[in-house]
Amino acid sequence: MTLFRIWTFRRRAITLASRMERVSAMRYSNLVERLQGRRTSAWEIHRVAQQAAARGEDVIVLSVGDPEFSTPAPIVERAIDALRAGDTHYTAMAGREPLRAAIAAEHGRTTGRDVSAANVVLTAGAQNGLFAVSLCLLEAGDEVIVPEPMYLTYEACVRAAGATLVAVPVDPARAFHVDCDALAAAITPRTKAIFFATPCNPTGVVMQRADLERIARLACEHDLWVLSDEVYAELTFERDHVSIASLPGMAERTVTLGSLSKSHAMAGWRVGWAIGPATLIEHMARLALAMLYGLPGFIQQAALTALENRAEIVAAIREIYRRRRDVVFERLHRVPGLRCLLPEAGMFVMVDVSGTGLDTTGFTWQLFRAQGVAVLDASAFGETANGFVRLGLVVGEDRLIEACDRIARFVEGVTG
Ligand SMILES: Cc1ncc(COP(=O)(O)O)c(C=O)c1O
Repeated sequence: MTLFRIWTFRRRAITLASRMERVSAMRYSNLVERLQGRRTSAWEIHRVAQQAAARGEDVIVLSVGDPEFSTPAPIVERAIDALRAGDTHYTAMAGREPLRAAIAAEHGRTTGRDVSAANVVLTAGAQNGLFAVSLCLLEAGDEVIVPEPMYLTYEACVRAAGATLVAVPVDPARAFHVDCDALAAAITPRTKAIFFATPCNPTGVVMQRADLERIARLACEHDLWVLSDEVYAELTFERDHVSIASLPGMAERTVTLGSLSKSHAMAGWRVGWAIGPATLIEHMARLALAMLYGLPGFIQQAALTALENRAEIVAAIREIYRRRRDVVFERLHRVPGLRCLLPEAGMFVMVDVSGTGLDTTGFTWQLFRAQGVAVLDASAFGETANGFVRLGLVVGEDRLIEACDRIARFVEGVTG
């Protein structure tokens, strides 16, 4: 190598190094720190299990909330037709009127409230709705009360808005039913809102009318917003879901989140909505202009078909989950060392594994390594769920039975 070449090479290396230094010295907003979740490590097992499945290993992945079956055919067909017909342009920021009107009509039917398209904004799944509502309602200094265990993205949304999440533990000994006295005791002059999911992920608990009435009274007395996340509302098995928006005094202070992800097996389509006072919806539509710029038109057309065929589709999907729940409960509740809670709704079963003598991290990893079944450490949803694992009803009955047999064998090996 000539001297010149060595020199050029050295110069290039120095330039690259200093560029890298400059990159690493780039500064970010403190938002990025507030987005860091504390409980994300539990999801590592899901990642590892998915990789094993991709390699063709005999694993059963029950660590996620997305079933193996596809979106019903008429919905898919409608999207394809709409695409072929050229529905590929920008759409209205808050969503198209017919879809918003259909969502409002359904909400009116279940709550008895007089709502219209003006009360509905479309979001990219309930998740995006949760984020957008948080930004429109909350700011630094505000506190948001959330019963715990809770769906894990709540914390990031509340913190992204600068507010503080105040978790109120829900006692496993009460089968994870909300403790309204504890909620009331957590209210301070800084409390701005109460957020909850009913039915709940991960517990599958459906809030009782009396508890919702108490929360509604607290919200009215302390002038609080209530965010009611109802993505599993259609998947109740024991008794009907009650929407807090239907209770007196709640119309002006409730935001109801919904989506097609769970009820119509449409998780990947990202169709959700927020229903609330018209002024909030206007604010959210302006935020959507900056954040989302409208949902794709062909997806909105498919969503309309989903709602038009709602009764039939939802009944079929609910029945699938109810049967899967019963299959799992029937097998696991008889296994010595396990205590299985019968979920009232949704697509998950909570199993208390503390009787095996293993902690939940140990249980989930050892089970996966020994038997290839991936379940989630439920303490990811809050310390209150420590000792529980969450098992998703996301594979067919045969595979679920196989998973239960493997779990039983594993527990027998550990305890026997
Ligand atoms: C309680 C709860 N809320 C919101 C979501 C997000 O749902 P979506 O797919 O509608 O964004 C989930 C997803 O699992 C959930 O369990």
